[in-house]
Amino acid sequence: MPQLALISPQDHLHRHHHHLLFLFLLISATNATRAAAITSTGYQRFKEAPQFYNSPTCPSIETSGINEMCSDEAVHVAMTLDVAYLRGSMAAILSALQHSSCPQNILFHFIASATTNNHHLRRIISRSFPSLKFQIYPYDSSAVSGLISTSIRSALDCPLNYARNYLANVLPPCLHRVVYLDSDLVLVDDIAKLAATPLGDHSVLAAPEYCNANFTSYFTPTFWSNPTLSLTFAGRKACYFNTGVMVIDLQRWREGDYTTKIIEWMELQKRMRIYELGSLPPFLLVFAGNIAPVDHRWNQHGLGGDNYRGLCRDLHPGPVSLLHWSGKGKPWVRLDANRPCPLDALWAPYDLLQTPFAMES
Ligand SMILES: *[C@@H]1O[C@H](CO)[C@@H](O)[C@H](O)[C@H]1NC(C)=O
Repeated sequence: MPQLALISPQDHLHRHHHHLLFLFLLISATNATRAAAITSTGYQRFKEAPQFYNSPTCPSIETSGINEMCSDEAVHVAMTLDVAYLRGSMAAILSALQHSSCPQNILFHFIASATTNNHHLRRIISRSFPSLKFQIYPYDSSAVSGLISTSIRSALDCPLNYARNYLANVLPPCLHRVVYLDSDLVLVDDIAKLAATPLGDHSVLAAPEYCNANFTSYFTPTFWSNPTLSLTFAGRKACYFNTGVMVIDLQRWREGDYTTKIIEWMELQKRMRIYELGSLPPFLLVFAGNIAPVDHRWNQHGLGGDNYRGLCRDLHPGPVSLLHWSGKGKPWVRLDANRPCPLDALWAPYDLLQTPFAMES
Protein backbone atom coordinates (compact mmCIF):
# COMPACT_ATOMS: atom_id res chain seq x y z
CA MET A 1 0.00 0.00 0.00
CA PRO A 2 2.98 2.44 -0.30
CA GLN A 3 1.43 4.44 -3.12
CA LEU A 4 -1.43 5.36 -0.78
CA ALA A 5 0.97 6.52 1.93
CA LEU A 6 2.45 8.95 -0.56
CA ILE A 7 -0.83 10.72 -1.16
CA SER A 8 -0.72 14.17 0.25
CA PRO A 9 -3.91 15.71 1.60
CA GLN A 10 -2.89 18.91 -0.26
CA ASP A 11 -3.05 17.06 -3.52
CA HIS A 12 -5.68 18.67 -5.69
CA LEU A 13 -6.98 15.20 -6.45
CA HIS A 14 -7.28 14.29 -2.81
CA ARG A 15 -11.02 13.74 -2.87
CA HIS A 16 -10.51 11.31 -5.67
CA HIS A 17 -7.75 9.57 -3.73
CA HIS A 18 -9.95 9.25 -0.71
CA HIS A 19 -12.34 7.32 -2.82
CA LEU A 20 -9.50 5.14 -4.02
CA LEU A 21 -8.33 4.59 -0.47
CA PHE A 22 -11.81 3.57 0.56
CA LEU A 23 -12.05 1.19 -2.37
CA PHE A 24 -8.65 -0.24 -1.58
CA LEU A 25 -9.55 -0.86 2.06
CA LEU A 26 -12.78 -2.48 0.96
CA ILE A 27 -10.93 -4.81 -1.41
CA SER A 28 -8.32 -5.62 1.27
CA ALA A 29 -11.04 -6.47 3.76
CA THR A 30 -12.75 -8.74 1.25
CA ASN A 31 -9.44 -10.47 0.49
CA ALA A 32 -8.75 -10.94 4.18
CA THR A 33 -12.12 -12.62 4.65
CA ARG A 34 -11.46 -14.84 1.67
CA ALA A 35 -7.98 -15.73 2.94
CA ALA A 36 -9.42 -16.73 6.31
CA ALA A 37 -11.98 -18.93 4.59
CA ILE A 38 -9.27 -20.54 2.49
CA THR A 39 -7.03 -21.40 5.43
CA SER A 40 -9.90 -22.94 7.34
CA THR A 41 -10.98 -25.13 4.45
CA GLY A 42 -8.79 -26.05 1.58
CA TYR A 43 -5.69 -24.24 0.56
CA GLN A 44 -3.65 -26.20 3.03
CA ARG A 45 -0.18 -27.47 2.30
CA PHE A 46 0.42 -31.19 2.37
CA LYS A 47 3.63 -33.14 2.77
CA GLU A 48 4.89 -35.51 0.11
CA ALA A 49 4.02 -39.11 0.93
CA PRO A 50 6.65 -41.84 0.64
CA GLN A 51 6.74 -43.75 -2.63
CA PHE A 52 5.19 -47.22 -2.43
CA TYR A 53 6.20 -50.02 -4.78
CA ASN A 54 4.54 -53.20 -6.01
CA SER A 55 5.82 -56.49 -4.68
CA PRO A 56 7.26 -58.77 -7.42
CA THR A 57 4.15 -60.97 -7.57
CA CYS A 58 1.78 -58.15 -8.53
CA PRO A 59 0.04 -58.47 -11.89
CA SER A 60 0.89 -55.85 -14.46
CA ILE A 61 -1.94 -53.44 -15.13
CA GLU A 62 -0.23 -51.83 -18.12
CA THR A 63 -0.41 -54.76 -20.49
CA SER A 64 -4.03 -55.64 -19.94
CA GLY A 65 -5.69 -53.12 -22.19
CA ILE A 66 -5.59 -49.85 -24.03
CA ASN A 67 -7.28 -47.77 -21.35
CA GLU A 68 -5.23 -48.20 -18.19
CA MET A 69 -7.84 -46.32 -16.15
CA CYS A 70 -10.16 -49.29 -16.77
CA SER A 71 -7.71 -52.18 -16.27
CA ASP A 72 -9.40 -55.28 -14.81
CA GLU A 73 -6.19 -56.15 -12.94
CA ALA A 74 -6.21 -52.86 -11.04
CA VAL A 75 -8.03 -52.00 -7.84
CA HIS A 76 -10.29 -49.07 -8.66
CA VAL A 77 -11.15 -46.73 -5.83
CA ALA A 78 -13.77 -43.98 -6.12
CA MET A 79 -13.78 -41.09 -3.67
CA THR A 80 -15.17 -37.59 -3.65
CA LEU A 81 -12.72 -34.72 -3.43
CA ASP A 82 -13.49 -31.32 -2.02
CA VAL A 83 -11.55 -28.68 -0.13
CA ALA A 84 -13.45 -29.19 3.13
CA TYR A 85 -12.52 -32.89 3.44
CA LEU A 86 -9.20 -32.80 1.58
CA ARG A 87 -7.17 -33.61 4.69
CA GLY A 88 -9.30 -36.70 5.26
CA SER A 89 -9.03 -37.77 1.62
CA MET A 90 -5.24 -37.43 1.67
CA ALA A 91 -5.03 -39.65 4.77
CA ALA A 92 -7.35 -42.22 3.18
CA ILE A 93 -5.23 -42.37 0.01
CA LEU A 94 -2.00 -42.74 2.00
CA SER A 95 -3.48 -45.50 4.17
CA ALA A 96 -4.69 -47.45 1.11
CA LEU A 97 -1.24 -47.29 -0.52
CA GLN A 98 0.65 -48.09 2.66
CA HIS A 99 -1.22 -51.31 3.43
CA SER A 100 -1.39 -52.60 -0.11
CA SER A 101 0.98 -55.24 -1.49
CA CYS A 102 0.37 -53.85 -4.99
CA PRO A 103 0.07 -50.10 -4.33
CA GLN A 104 0.98 -49.18 -7.92
CA ASN A 105 -2.05 -51.17 -9.08
CA ILE A 106 -4.49 -48.95 -7.19
CA LEU A 107 -6.20 -46.44 -9.47
CA PHE A 108 -8.07 -43.55 -7.94
CA HIS A 109 -11.17 -42.03 -9.46
CA PHE A 110 -11.99 -38.74 -7.76
CA ILE A 111 -15.35 -37.07 -8.11
CA ALA A 112 -15.15 -33.31 -7.61
CA SER A 113 -17.77 -30.65 -7.94
CA ALA A 114 -17.72 -29.14 -11.43
CA THR A 115 -17.67 -25.70 -9.81
CA THR A 116 -14.40 -26.19 -7.88
CA ASN A 117 -10.93 -25.61 -9.30
CA ASN A 118 -10.06 -29.15 -10.34
CA HIS A 119 -6.69 -28.06 -11.65
CA HIS A 120 -5.82 -26.95 -8.14
CA LEU A 121 -7.00 -30.25 -6.63
CA ARG A 122 -4.96 -32.15 -9.22
CA ARG A 123 -1.84 -30.22 -8.25
CA ILE A 124 -2.33 -30.89 -4.54
CA ILE A 125 -2.77 -34.63 -5.12
CA SER A 126 0.22 -34.82 -7.49
CA ARG A 127 2.45 -32.91 -5.12
CA SER A 128 1.85 -35.37 -2.26
CA PHE A 129 1.59 -38.47 -4.46
CA PRO A 130 3.82 -37.80 -7.50
CA SER A 131 3.27 -41.19 -9.15
CA LEU A 132 -0.34 -41.79 -8.16
CA LYS A 133 -2.56 -42.95 -11.00
CA PHE A 134 -5.72 -40.93 -10.77
CA GLN A 135 -8.39 -39.11 -12.65
CA ILE A 136 -10.64 -36.27 -11.48
CA TYR A 137 -14.17 -36.32 -12.82
CA PRO A 138 -16.26 -33.16 -12.63
CA TYR A 139 -19.66 -33.77 -11.13
CA ASP A 140 -22.50 -31.39 -11.85
CA SER A 141 -24.04 -31.10 -8.42
CA SER A 142 -26.77 -28.73 -9.59
CA ALA A 143 -28.67 -31.77 -10.88
CA VAL A 144 -28.89 -33.24 -7.41
CA SER A 145 -29.28 -30.10 -5.31
CA GLY A 146 -32.91 -29.79 -6.37
CA LEU A 147 -33.52 -33.31 -5.12
CA ILE A 148 -32.05 -32.89 -1.67
CA SER A 149 -34.62 -32.42 1.02
CA THR A 150 -33.41 -30.85 4.22
CA SER A 151 -32.27 -33.57 6.59
CA ILE A 152 -31.66 -33.32 10.29
CA ARG A 153 -27.90 -33.04 9.80
CA SER A 154 -27.08 -30.30 7.32
CA ALA A 155 -23.59 -31.69 6.56
CA LEU A 156 -25.33 -34.64 4.95
CA ASP A 157 -27.07 -32.30 2.51
CA CYS A 158 -23.84 -31.42 0.69
CA PRO A 159 -24.45 -32.35 -2.96
CA LEU A 160 -21.12 -34.17 -3.21
CA ASN A 161 -22.42 -36.53 -0.56
CA TYR A 162 -24.83 -37.81 -3.22
CA ALA A 163 -22.10 -38.39 -5.83
CA ARG A 164 -22.06 -42.09 -4.89
CA ASN A 165 -25.50 -42.39 -6.55
CA TYR A 166 -24.01 -41.28 -9.84
CA LEU A 167 -20.77 -43.27 -10.02
CA ALA A 168 -22.05 -45.45 -12.85
CA ASN A 169 -22.77 -42.34 -14.93
CA VAL A 170 -19.74 -40.26 -13.97
CA LEU A 171 -17.04 -42.97 -14.24
CA PRO A 172 -15.97 -44.28 -17.67
CA PRO A 173 -18.23 -47.00 -19.14
CA CYS A 174 -15.25 -49.36 -19.47
CA LEU A 175 -14.94 -49.47 -15.67
CA HIS A 176 -16.60 -52.61 -14.28
CA ARG A 177 -15.99 -52.65 -10.55
CA VAL A 178 -15.15 -49.96 -8.07
CA VAL A 179 -14.60 -49.65 -4.32
CA TYR A 180 -16.35 -46.53 -3.07
CA LEU A 181 -14.79 -44.96 0.03
CA ASP A 182 -15.80 -41.99 2.17
CA SER A 183 -13.13 -39.39 3.00
CA ASP A 184 -13.24 -39.85 6.78
CA LEU A 185 -11.63 -43.26 7.00
CA VAL A 186 -8.29 -45.07 6.93
CA LEU A 187 -7.44 -48.59 5.83
CA VAL A 188 -5.14 -50.77 7.91
CA ASP A 189 -5.33 -53.78 5.58
CA ASP A 190 -4.90 -54.54 1.87
CA ILE A 191 -7.73 -52.95 -0.11
CA ALA A 192 -7.31 -55.63 -2.80
CA LYS A 193 -8.99 -58.09 -0.42
CA LEU A 194 -12.02 -55.81 -0.10
CA ALA A 195 -12.10 -55.17 -3.85
CA ALA A 196 -12.14 -58.93 -4.51
CA THR A 197 -15.38 -59.44 -2.53
CA PRO A 198 -17.55 -61.93 -4.43
CA LEU A 199 -20.80 -60.31 -5.57
CA GLY A 200 -22.51 -63.61 -6.41
CA ASP A 201 -24.75 -64.01 -9.44
CA HIS A 202 -26.97 -61.00 -8.87
CA SER A 203 -25.71 -58.52 -6.27
CA VAL A 204 -24.97 -55.02 -7.47
CA LEU A 205 -23.06 -54.03 -4.38
CA ALA A 206 -21.33 -55.45 -1.35
CA ALA A 207 -21.02 -53.86 2.09
CA PRO A 208 -20.96 -54.94 5.72
CA GLU A 209 -24.54 -55.48 6.95
CA TYR A 210 -25.77 -54.71 10.46
CA CYS A 211 -28.86 -56.77 11.15
CA ASN A 212 -28.96 -55.82 14.85
CA ALA A 213 -29.49 -52.15 14.02
CA ASN A 214 -33.10 -51.00 14.30
CA PHE A 215 -34.00 -50.82 10.61
CA THR A 216 -37.43 -49.30 11.35
CA SER A 217 -35.87 -46.15 12.74
CA TYR A 218 -34.35 -45.09 9.40
CA PHE A 219 -37.81 -44.42 7.95
CA THR A 220 -40.69 -42.29 9.17
CA PRO A 221 -44.06 -43.55 10.49
CA THR A 222 -45.50 -42.07 7.26
CA PHE A 223 -43.44 -44.58 5.32
CA TRP A 224 -44.31 -47.61 7.46
CA SER A 225 -48.01 -46.79 7.63
CA ASN A 226 -48.29 -46.63 3.85
CA PRO A 227 -48.45 -50.23 2.54
CA THR A 228 -47.61 -49.27 -1.06
CA LEU A 229 -44.34 -47.88 0.27
CA SER A 230 -43.42 -50.31 3.02
CA LEU A 231 -44.16 -53.31 0.78
CA THR A 232 -40.89 -52.37 -0.91
CA PHE A 233 -39.21 -54.44 1.78
CA ALA A 234 -41.61 -57.40 1.52
CA GLY A 235 -39.72 -60.65 1.05
CA ARG A 236 -36.37 -58.97 1.65
CA LYS A 237 -34.29 -59.55 4.76
CA ALA A 238 -33.47 -55.86 4.88
CA CYS A 239 -30.64 -54.84 7.19
CA TYR A 240 -28.88 -51.54 7.69
CA PHE A 241 -25.63 -50.99 5.85
CA ASN A 242 -23.32 -47.99 5.77
CA THR A 243 -22.78 -46.44 2.33
CA GLY A 244 -19.30 -45.15 3.21
CA VAL A 245 -17.62 -48.39 2.12
CA MET A 246 -19.11 -50.25 -0.84
CA VAL A 247 -17.90 -52.56 -3.57
CA ILE A 248 -20.00 -51.77 -6.63
CA ASP A 249 -20.49 -53.69 -9.86
CA LEU A 250 -20.91 -50.73 -12.20
CA GLN A 251 -21.92 -52.98 -15.09
CA ARG A 252 -24.90 -54.38 -13.17
CA TRP A 253 -25.67 -50.94 -11.80
CA ARG A 254 -25.93 -49.52 -15.31
CA GLU A 255 -27.98 -52.47 -16.57
CA GLY A 256 -30.48 -52.06 -13.74
CA ASP A 257 -30.42 -48.24 -13.96
CA TYR A 258 -30.19 -47.99 -10.18
CA THR A 259 -29.37 -44.29 -10.35
CA THR A 260 -32.92 -43.66 -11.58
CA LYS A 261 -34.37 -45.94 -8.89
CA ILE A 262 -32.56 -43.95 -6.20
CA ILE A 263 -33.66 -40.63 -7.73
CA GLU A 264 -37.27 -41.82 -7.73
CA TRP A 265 -37.16 -42.32 -3.96
CA MET A 266 -35.50 -38.91 -3.55
CA GLU A 267 -38.29 -37.33 -5.56
CA LEU A 268 -40.87 -39.01 -3.37
CA GLN A 269 -39.04 -37.79 -0.27
CA LYS A 270 -39.45 -34.24 -1.55
CA ARG A 271 -43.23 -34.68 -1.66
CA MET A 272 -43.66 -36.65 1.57
CA ARG A 273 -41.12 -37.19 4.31
CA ILE A 274 -40.34 -40.90 4.27
CA TYR A 275 -36.92 -40.80 5.94
CA GLU A 276 -34.70 -38.48 8.00
CA LEU A 277 -31.04 -38.85 7.03
CA GLY A 278 -29.63 -37.67 3.70
CA SER A 279 -28.13 -39.98 1.08
CA LEU A 280 -28.29 -43.29 2.99
CA PRO A 281 -32.02 -44.23 3.08
CA PRO A 282 -32.51 -44.30 -0.73
CA PHE A 283 -29.68 -46.85 -0.86
CA LEU A 284 -31.43 -48.91 1.81
CA LEU A 285 -34.72 -48.68 -0.10
CA VAL A 286 -33.17 -49.92 -3.31
CA PHE A 287 -30.57 -52.41 -2.07
CA ALA A 288 -31.12 -53.53 1.55
CA GLY A 289 -31.58 -57.28 1.73
CA ASN A 290 -30.04 -57.83 -1.70
CA ILE A 291 -26.42 -56.93 -1.07
CA ALA A 292 -23.43 -59.24 -0.88
CA PRO A 293 -21.99 -59.45 2.63
CA VAL A 294 -18.62 -58.04 3.65
CA ASP A 295 -16.91 -58.80 6.96
CA HIS A 296 -17.53 -56.09 9.56
CA ARG A 297 -13.78 -55.54 9.83
CA TRP A 298 -14.03 -53.51 6.59
CA ASN A 299 -16.16 -50.77 8.11
CA GLN A 300 -15.58 -50.06 11.77
CA HIS A 301 -17.92 -47.07 11.49
CA GLY A 302 -19.28 -44.50 13.90
CA LEU A 303 -15.89 -43.42 15.25
CA GLY A 304 -16.84 -39.77 14.70
CA GLY A 305 -19.33 -40.16 17.50
CA ASP A 306 -21.19 -37.17 18.74
CA ASN A 307 -18.86 -34.19 18.60
CA TYR A 308 -21.12 -31.81 20.48
CA ARG A 309 -21.60 -33.90 23.55
CA GLY A 310 -17.94 -34.91 23.35
CA LEU A 311 -18.76 -38.60 23.21
CA CYS A 312 -16.02 -40.88 21.95
CA ARG A 313 -16.88 -44.20 20.38
CA ASP A 314 -15.08 -47.45 20.83
CA LEU A 315 -14.37 -50.08 18.18
CA HIS A 316 -16.92 -52.79 17.57
CA PRO A 317 -15.66 -56.19 18.76
CA GLY A 318 -13.60 -58.16 16.26
CA PRO A 319 -10.74 -57.55 13.84
CA VAL A 320 -10.17 -54.22 12.11
CA SER A 321 -9.27 -53.59 8.47
CA LEU A 322 -10.79 -50.15 8.05
CA LEU A 323 -11.55 -47.39 10.57
CA HIS A 324 -14.36 -45.01 9.67
CA TRP A 325 -14.98 -41.74 11.53
CA SER A 326 -18.62 -41.47 10.44
CA GLY A 327 -20.73 -39.26 12.68
CA LYS A 328 -20.37 -35.64 13.60
CA GLY A 329 -16.80 -35.60 14.91
CA LYS A 330 -13.79 -35.79 12.60
CA PRO A 331 -10.36 -36.81 13.93
CA TRP A 332 -8.50 -33.88 12.32
CA VAL A 333 -10.86 -31.37 13.90
CA ARG A 334 -10.53 -32.93 17.35
CA LEU A 335 -6.74 -33.26 17.04
CA ASP A 336 -6.45 -29.59 16.02
CA ALA A 337 -8.64 -28.59 18.96
CA ASN A 338 -6.44 -30.64 21.30
CA ARG A 339 -9.47 -32.66 22.31
CA PRO A 340 -8.92 -35.97 20.52
CA CYS A 341 -10.77 -39.18 21.21
CA PRO A 342 -8.47 -42.12 22.04
CA LEU A 343 -8.98 -43.75 18.61
CA ASP A 344 -8.08 -40.52 16.79
CA ALA A 345 -4.46 -41.50 17.49
CA LEU A 346 -4.96 -44.22 14.87
CA TRP A 347 -5.83 -41.60 12.24
CA ALA A 348 -2.96 -39.21 13.06
CA PRO A 349 -0.13 -41.26 11.44
CA TYR A 350 -1.81 -40.82 8.04
CA ASP A 351 -2.21 -37.05 8.35
CA LEU A 352 -0.23 -35.38 5.57
CA LEU A 353 -1.00 -31.81 6.55
CA GLN A 354 2.12 -29.71 6.70
CA THR A 355 2.25 -28.04 10.08
CA PRO A 356 3.80 -24.57 10.38
CA PHE A 357 6.61 -26.11 12.44
CA ALA A 358 7.43 -28.66 9.73
CA MET A 359 7.42 -25.91 7.08
CA GLU A 360 10.14 -23.97 8.88
CA SER A 361 12.46 -26.94 9.19
C1 LIG B 1 -37.13 -49.34 16.54
O1 LIG B 1 -37.41 -48.00 16.16
C2 LIG B 1 -38.79 -47.69 16.15
C3 LIG B 1 -38.96 -46.30 15.57
O2 LIG B 1 -37.92 -45.44 15.91
C4 LIG B 1 -39.34 -47.81 17.57
O3 LIG B 1 -40.72 -47.50 17.60
C5 LIG B 1 -39.11 -49.25 18.06
O4 LIG B 1 -39.52 -49.37 19.40
C6 LIG B 1 -37.65 -49.64 17.94
N1 LIG B 1 -37.50 -51.07 18.20
C7 LIG B 1 -36.57 -51.56 19.01
C8 LIG B 1 -36.54 -53.03 19.16
O5 LIG B 1 -35.79 -50.84 19.62
